[in-house]
Amino acid sequence: MSSPDTSGGILSIDLAALVSNWQMLKSQLESADCAVALKADAYGIGASRAVVELARAGCREFFVALIDEGISLRRVLGEAGLDGHIHILSGAMAPATMTRHRLIPVLNSLNDIETWKNAAPGLAADIHIDTGMSRLGLPPEELQILANDRAILKGLNISYVMSHLACAEDRDTAMNDQQLQRFKQALKLFPGCRASLANSSGIFLGPEYHFDLARPGVSLYGVNPTPGKPNPMAQVIRLQGKILQIRDVDSPQSVGYGATYRVERKGRIATVGVGYADGYLRSLSNCGFGYLGQQRLPLVGRVSMDLITFDVSEVPQSEVHPGAMIDLIGPHNPIDDIADAASIIGYEILTALGSRLHRVYENGTA
Ligand SMILES: Cc1ncc(COP(=O)(O)O)c(C=O)c1O
Repeated sequence: MSSPDTSGGILSIDLAALVSNWQMLKSQLESADCAVALKADAYGIGASRAVVELARAGCREFFVALIDEGISLRRVLGEAGLDGHIHILSGAMAPATMTRHRLIPVLNSLNDIETWKNAAPGLAADIHIDTGMSRLGLPPEELQILANDRAILKGLNISYVMSHLACAEDRDTAMNDQQLQRFKQALKLFPGCRASLANSSGIFLGPEYHFDLARPGVSLYGVNPTPGKPNPMAQVIRLQGKILQIRDVDSPQSVGYGATYRVERKGRIATVGVGYADGYLRSLSNCGFGYLGQQRLPLVGRVSMDLITFDVSEVPQSEVHPGAMIDLIGPHNPIDDIADAASIIGYEILTALGSRLHRVYENGTA
């Protein structure tokens, strides 16, 4: 069991901020419902805590990628005396297991439809239409087969017909409208069925994209769904790293693996006990930055497995000492800023957060 004293970093997760983000997204939707994407352990923040808080707040639709993730959510919800619809994006694998745990498959092909109809007649399933990702979902040629033979859908209990946007965070691209039109066209094959298209950024493309259900993920966890505009979401995580040692440098010296950074004048380097094994990605080498209070600290040298190094020469000596905590993601350096600095995406930062960090869940209802 880790503790603040025994770990190199502390990850604080504000569950009330998570719930308020869901409520904020829901408020953007007029009549549509708001699901949540909880895959990859709720993008790294901890699906078992997130699902309980969100279900208590009234959320009923949960999307995960894998059956294993769905089984775990079903167990957690059950233990908390809660219920909900758990949708599995990866298709109709292991139908007997899915029905046992009351999981709703997202059927991605005519083959999936056939499998589910035979294995679980009458049980709810979603259908995914590929409108431009060329990833999962029924491609145009399978839609054509469906159009010519409507009997394929007979006996299928469709929960939602869905698709996924490829470029929703870029509101100016023509791709969004192309996908919207293709989706609307495909929906004609499913009269009376409920529909779902928008992810986080899709919600902000406007009501045309909302249909009956939105499926936000990353914005719930604090990442800006409207790049280029102020972030409407509350920050959910804070990552603090502990200073292990301060090195006084009084002659030119290099820092870290590969000697990629050189201190040219007198200065001080603080070594912090968090590294890429904790999800502080190596791509942040020489471009990440931390904060000690209000003071911005450039990350210097390469990120190594367990350690990172900051130039703390500008901080008064009394404030910087072993045991002091540096904000690696915090009020002054939110996920988006750190991701931008390293030309990566907030999703990567969230889902990489490591198991060695001491986790503190704050403001939950449990
Ligand atoms: C099918 C599907 N729906 C919804 C989401 C949530 O997207 P976002 O995290 O961009 O809100 C994802 C995430 O990748 C997804 O694959």
